Amino acid sequence: MNPPFIYLDNNATTPVDPRVLEAMLPYFTAIPGNAASRNHPYGWKAKEAVDVARQQIADLLSIEGKELVFTSGATEAINLAIKGIYESYSRKGKHIITLQTEHKAVLDTCKRLEKIGAEVTYLPVQEDGLLDVELLKARIRPDTILVSVLWANNETGVIQPMKDIGHICQEKGVFLMSDATQAVGKIPVSPKEVGVHLMAFSAHKMYGPKGMGALYVSQRQPKIKIAAQIDGGGHENGMRSGTLNVPSIVGFGKAAMIAKTEMQRDAERLQDLRDQFEAKMLNGLEEVKINGEPNIRLPHVSNLSFRFIKGETLMARFSEKLGVSSGAACTSATLEPSHVLQAMGLNDYWTYGALRFSLGRFTKVEEVERASKIVIEGVQHLRKLSPIWELFKDGVAVDDL
Ligand SMILES: Cc1ncc(COP(=O)(O)O)c(C=O)c1O
Repeated sequence: MNPPFIYLDNNATTPVDPRVLEAMLPYFTAIPGNAASRNHPYGWKAKEAVDVARQQIADLLSIEGKELVFTSGATEAINLAIKGIYESYSRKGKHIITLQTEHKAVLDTCKRLEKIGAEVTYLPVQEDGLLDVELLKARIRPDTILVSVLWANNETGVIQPMKDIGHICQEKGVFLMSDATQAVGKIPVSPKEVGVHLMAFSAHKMYGPKGMGALYVSQRQPKIKIAAQIDGGGHENGMRSGTLNVPSIVGFGKAAMIAKTEMQRDAERLQDLRDQFEAKMLNGLEEVKINGEPNIRLPHVSNLSFRFIKGETLMARFSEKLGVSSGAACTSATLEPSHVLQAMGLNDYWTYGALRFSLGRFTKVEEVERASKIVIEGVQHLRKLSPIWELFKDGVAVDDL
């Protein structure tokens, strides 16, 4: 029998924790109420469950429950934050600052706003993926209304200096929004503590259900008013209309509660496993490189470049056995190299050779060991077939070719 499939693509999505599923199930059948129904026990119980979940998520982030707006995921939360701020505050200014290494949910939302008059500065990052905060400081203008910074990068795991960024934004009187989708539930995240005013995140990256997310909107010092992007019914304090997804909200809350108690233990175990995996790669292969500042990363993420190999080709070789992700974003028929690694200044040989390995709560030691053997075998095999590798080994300066 074939050994079971190894899943190292937890940054794409995490499996639902069985404890989360168990908490959700009654809200599909036994308690099927609409949380907005005020006239019967089904409605009361649904509302009660939503309130509990809201508080569980608020506790994880040290915020207040009323500062959360439930959405269909981080993409919607990001759209609501950036478009909502622009609509509410563009009379003050039309300038937004973000990073070149953001997720497409932020970049494409900014591109959309550019079409209606916004001016967006896309800041570069340093070679290690970190933002130079002095550069940010220099680029904030009197008409800047919003800075949007990805808390932890989805491809490399690099964690931005949010406290310093928050400090600068406070000094300059600019709103700070963060896409914290990959950080929440994995590392301690407390937006108030670092001066983040709006923060988007998602249940399915933290062992909760897919299609469920939230936006934190500061309601105290400062109280922020964002324009709703979905109208009808006035749910979520008028910021996001639509019947609440009660089972998923319950699951989101349970996932947050579990993260609060188990996050540190998970992180320590996964960092250990990740470091062992990287040591095996670096010892077992030539011309391998860790992408992103190695000491300021999410503990479960490893983005590696195998020089002179196409990550896509390598991945295809073992895709039946091992699930990972390439640094490349697939847009229609063309494979584009990762905009994140390009922004970090990697040349094509390194960029195209990137793969992202993301471990998770259910990853086992033996799976990581097996994965490392599969990858090493794959890289060695492809290099044997590679003329450019042969030239490189013969001492030709291939980067200049
Ligand atoms: C950093 C980041 N932002 C936003 C998203 C979008 O999240 P969702 O799938 O909940 O819309 C993702 C998911 O891939 C992500 O990794």
